[in-house]
Amino acid sequence: MKFAVMSADVDNEQSVSSALQEVASIVGNEGLNCLINNAAIGNTTDLNTVTPEAMMKSFQVNTVAPLFVTKAFLPLLQTAAARSSGMGIHRAAVINVSSILGSITHNWAEGANFKSYAYRTSKAALNMVTRCLAADLGSDGILCMSLPRLGPDRHGGPL
Ligand SMILES: NC(=O)c1ccc[n+]([C@@H]2O[C@H](COP(=O)([O-])OP(=O)(O)OC[C@H]3O[C@@H](n4cnc5c(N)ncnc54)[C@H](OP(=O)(O)O)[C@@H]3O)[C@@H](O)[C@H]2O)c1
Repeated sequence: MKFAVMSADVDNEQSVSSALQEVASIVGNEGLNCLINNAAIGNTTDLNTVTPEAMMKSFQVNTVAPLFVTKAFLPLLQTAAARSSGMGIHRAAVINVSSILGSITHNWAEGANFKSYAYRTSKAALNMVTRCLAADLGSDGILCMSLPRLGPDRHGGPL
């Protein structure tokens, strides 16, 4: 396993391209086994406060960016996938960090108390991006999945 730290703005094509080059130079011929799209912006935008700008910014960072970061890193993931068999992180995987707040089923009763048109909508759309990627990349041996979060929530609850 290799460990490196770098910064990137996932909403900036040039920045993603620079990160890609940096990662490519580190992983070399082995490719990239796992891409985790974790970056996101959150906000509380109820029916009174939601704006077109809040909707579009959340969609751009939380939904569009994970798709295009994945597209950018696809050659590295395909290189890793070609070196192994089966399906999983040992081979190649894209993990999109979503949220239970992106679940339409969860948006009832108490689950509807958290008001954010922008965040909830962007994460619901991210789930569909993930499913589309899974449908397209399964034949390459690249696992694509959403997780509701990476670790304990702000209240210390389990994953
Ligand atoms: N916290 C929870 O309870 C919870 C629950 C469910 C799901 N999630 C999801 O888990 C993930 C992480 O959540 P968190 O609580 O750690 O969120 P957070 O504390 O708000 O951190 C979000 C991270 O995303 C980065 N980011 C935002 N816009 C970016 C951009 N354009 N380019 C690159 N990085 C950007 C932020 O960087 P800067 O600080 O530099 O802006 C920050 O490091 C998110 O996808 C979130 O939706 C969190």
